[in-house]
Amino acid sequence: EKGGHKHFMAKEIAEQPAVIGDALGHHIQNGQIALPDVDFTKIDRLVMVACGTAFYACLTAKYWFEQLAGIPVEVDIASEFRYREPPIPTGTVALFVSQSGETADTLAALQYCEGRADQILSVVNVPESSIARGSDVVLPIYAGTEIGVASTKAFTCQLVVLVLMALKAAQDKGRMDAETLNGHLTDLRNLPGLMNHALSGNTVMKKLARKLAEATDILFLGRGQMYPLAMEGALKLKEISYIHAEGYASGELKHGPIALVDKKTPIVVMAPSDRLFDKTVSNMQEVMARGGKVLLITDAKGAEEAGDGMWETLIMPEVPDLFAPILYAIPAQLLAYHTAVAKGTDVDQPRNLAKSVTVE
Ligand code: M6R
Repeated sequence: EKGGHKHFMAKEIAEQPAVIGDALGHHIQNGQIALPDVDFTKIDRLVMVACGTAFYACLTAKYWFEQLAGIPVEVDIASEFRYREPPIPTGTVALFVSQSGETADTLAALQYCEGRADQILSVVNVPESSIARGSDVVLPIYAGTEIGVASTKAFTCQLVVLVLMALKAAQDKGRMDAETLNGHLTDLRNLPGLMNHALSGNTVMKKLARKLAEATDILFLGRGQMYPLAMEGALKLKEISYIHAEGYASGELKHGPIALVDKKTPIVVMAPSDRLFDKTVSNMQEVMARGGKVLLITDAKGAEEAGDGMWETLIMPEVPDLFAPILYAIPAQLLAYHTAVAKGTDVDQPRNLAKSVTVE
């Protein structure tokens, strides 16, 4: 049942190119994004609510909806949103993201939006779940059953559905021409191939993980749309390896966390060579000047631009900017997985955690 893998988590990480292919096949038809039940022209404002990894998928999607479609987005953790009881102005569509569709706080947040939001959408893996049943429109992610407590393939499939929504919104709002959209869809279809490539570096991952396993604290840094992924990488690592990890926006470093940097602290920087790369390079230099050990995850161009002095560098295939968080989720997951294996923890059933949090 684990398909030759030692853990469900390993199997589910490896399945990502295939399930993403499925998700794309379902949501793109005849070369068009097929999300027929959502009228994106009517969305003035989007409120996205979720927990844990699904929350980080929402935070990533905020960059997409705002940049591509010009839709202002508010993202909140369900347990905060439900008790804060925020005002929901007319023109607001509420979007809930949940693998299980049964997370108690997310469901309560959805119920709060009933009768307040113009429309309730959900992005779920389980179409017959409570959250799906409470939604006006359900967008399935087609990840297949996810058993490992640490969410992996559900996260990348959530990202794929969310980026398709943002692209469709951009098209419907007249902000993207057909040619640009087709270019993005072609890039998306190439993503499973790039993911296979990213999955192939297991020996290197194991070597890096053995080094990370010796640390007691690890910082993850990312900028722009890679910032939520830094938090996701930290969550994944702490969840299954029990190593303390924090994800920060690279630019926040000097506002506090740089005080933590010393010779013992690995700093994982997730930075494809995009338009913000040189800023990240200066952040890394600040860290290295204080003896910090930088593990840079980037592409070949980024590795060259970053220069010398890295503790370790992990080279990823080049990927169009927009889809970098989806591809870079793979090394984040693999590092957490191999670190947990090196530490001998229970990868699929980490202590104190449940797969589906159905009570608050
Ligand atoms: O089923 P959901 O997507 O609503 O679950 C939300 C979180 O409980 C979940 O993502 C959790 O953070 C994972 N264990 C993270 O790997």
